[in-house]
Amino acid sequence: MHVDSFLLLKALSQQEKINKDMPKGHRGGKQIDSINGTLPSYQKIQEEEPQKKLPVTFEDKRKANYERGNMELEKRRQALMEQQQREAERKAQKEKEEWERKQRELQEQEWKKQLELEKRLEKQRELERQREEERRKEIERREVIFKLFYSPKKVIIFTKQELERQRRLEWERIRRQELLNQKNREQEEIVRLNSKKKSLHLELEVLNGKHQQIAGRLQDVRLRKQTQKTELEVLDKQCDLEIMEIKQLQQELKELRESYNTQQLALEQLHKIKHDKLKEIEKKRLELIQKKKLEDEAARPEALYAAVNKKPTSTAYPVGEDKMLAVHFDKPGGPENLYVKEVARPHPREGEVLLKVVASALNRADLLQRQGQYSPPPGASSILGLEASGHVAELGPGCQGHWKIGDSAMALLPGGGQAQYVTVPEGLLMPIPEGLSLPQAAAVPEAWLTAFQLLHCVGGVQEGETVLIHAGTGGVGTAAILLTRLLKAVPLVTTSSKENVQMAQRLGAAAGFDYKKEDFAEEALKATQGVGVNVILDCIGGSYWEKNLHCLAADGRWVLYGLMGGADVNGPLLSKLLCKRGSLRASLLRSRDKKYKESLVKTFTEQVLPHFSPGSAVQLQPVVDQIFAMADVQKAHSRMEANKNVGKIILEMP
Ligand SMILES: NC(=O)c1ccc[n+]([C@@H]2O[C@H](COP(=O)([O-])OP(=O)(O)OC[C@H]3O[C@@H](n4cnc5c(N)ncnc54)[C@H](OP(=O)(O)O)[C@@H]3O)[C@@H](O)[C@H]2O)c1
Repeated sequence: MHVDSFLLLKALSQQEKINKDMPKGHRGGKQIDSINGTLPSYQKIQEEEPQKKLPVTFEDKRKANYERGNMELEKRRQALMEQQQREAERKAQKEKEEWERKQRELQEQEWKKQLELEKRLEKQRELERQREEERRKEIERREVIFKLFYSPKKVIIFTKQELERQRRLEWERIRRQELLNQKNREQEEIVRLNSKKKSLHLELEVLNGKHQQIAGRLQDVRLRKQTQKTELEVLDKQCDLEIMEIKQLQQELKELRESYNTQQLALEQLHKIKHDKLKEIEKKRLELIQKKKLEDEAARPEALYAAVNKKPTSTAYPVGEDKMLAVHFDKPGGPENLYVKEVARPHPREGEVLLKVVASALNRADLLQRQGQYSPPPGASSILGLEASGHVAELGPGCQGHWKIGDSAMALLPGGGQAQYVTVPEGLLMPIPEGLSLPQAAAVPEAWLTAFQLLHCVGGVQEGETVLIHAGTGGVGTAAILLTRLLKAVPLVTTSSKENVQMAQRLGAAAGFDYKKEDFAEEALKATQGVGVNVILDCIGGSYWEKNLHCLAADGRWVLYGLMGGADVNGPLLSKLLCKRGSLRASLLRSRDKKYKESLVKTFTEQVLPHFSPGSAVQLQPVVDQIFAMADVQKAHSRMEANKNVGKIILEMP
């Protein structure tokens, strides 16, 4: 083999060997990132950002700022770590390049030494050949001399000697050659060991580098642990502070609750005192009225009531006398047609009781009947008066025993209330709630049963719904406001003056609109944020139909129960009603059958009457406008006709 190619092959095999001995990351070829001597950088696990809450209080803002600061610090720390890692990678790369350069230098030095060694060996071999040549020439020369000067025997001796000498020389040459070879091998071994030593040294350096990196990382982890510990401590402190704040707030809440309870108690006491005072005032007022009435009667010698005054006024009313006084009119017309007349006293029929009337309230139906526009239903008394309060004077046959003579009661009537006596089916009588006087009780049956029926049965008002009540300060209107509140719905009213609006609001209306000065439909829409009202209690009719439909909410109920604004409708009522998917529901209480009325009275007695008694959570009370004596019935009718009344007008019977 040629010397150069031999040296090249040897160098290559040595390189291969060195590569094998090297640590993985320092081998030739493309560097592998994950094992290049640097450690993977610490990647903080990105925590899922919690949903950001809008800061609402100072505390929330402080918390948000604190979290933002923490996040900023975390970002900076991460950037610093990434920079450190990049520097470590650069350093490792540089070290690797330095190692490779040194390795190349070592290889070159070794090649040079090998070359020199080969050259030396070649020179020695050349010298050996020259010496051999010279020996051969010397032998030839000597042979020639021997042949010329010595005998064959001598020649043989010389030749033997010569051969011996040559054999010795050959042995020495072989010995020399062996020693040379051994020396070469030893040198090679020394070179190999040196190279191994260097590679081991380099490996040691790499391991040192790694050790330093691990130590750095450990330091980093320790630092991180320390930071987290500090953060945890801060959070702990913060948590403690917040717990303390919560405890303080709880304490404040407790104190507030206690003070609220005390205030509530004081308020209840005030309410009770107010209620007692009102009762006292009402009692005094009634006494005064009674006194005035007696004085008036005493001043009229031709006393209209002479016959009546002769009768005992105790609860044991004498029955069997056939006469009584009643409000009467001979022909339809104005209030001037009214007068008090002695008429036949009615007798209770099957299931009826005779009521000695103390008071009866006036209704619009009475005005219409007087004007000849509203006939009483078949079988009903032609005497005016749809409601009355008084005492049970006689029980008819077949009475169930719910009532006994002398009981105070109030009654829903189809007519006949404005007289000293009236007969009534026992199922239409109601007990008088504690705290109500008889004149006050007379204001309840017609107006309150109407309002209850319209809201509860016809309108189907639900909790939270909005109810627009027309004629909100009338008898039915005032009752409707209070009952709407009892149903936990929202009452809005229309009425004719600012004072009336205020009065309705005192009763419980959420808002009131003066229909003479403002467009109630627009106002109702504003009050309901454009939604409209769910139910309209309408006793006006014709003049309001368009506005009613304008402010009615989708699927709203328009409950018609009176026609004070006329009965005619001009315009697209049906299409507007259809657009709103509205329903028009009409109702009349007077013409309902006995069964319906009895059921209504029963429900009302059970569900509503308890709320008239003092101490009820929602306190109900009828609104009484004015009390007139029976003799002043004309004045009473005139007042109602002029729309001057706020609440009910009461007639007291002699
Ligand atoms: N369907 C039934 O079962 C039934 C039962 C009872 C009563 N009603 C009817 O319900 C209506 C009210 O009865 P009520 O006892 O409450 O009467 P009320 O106490 O006399 O109150 C009626 C009030 O309506 C207002 N009003 C009168 N005419 C008006 C008009 N043209 N436009 C707007 N508002 C007018 C007046 O007050 P402001 O002007 O100050 O608002 C008046 O004070 C009556 O028509 C009555 O016949 C029907």
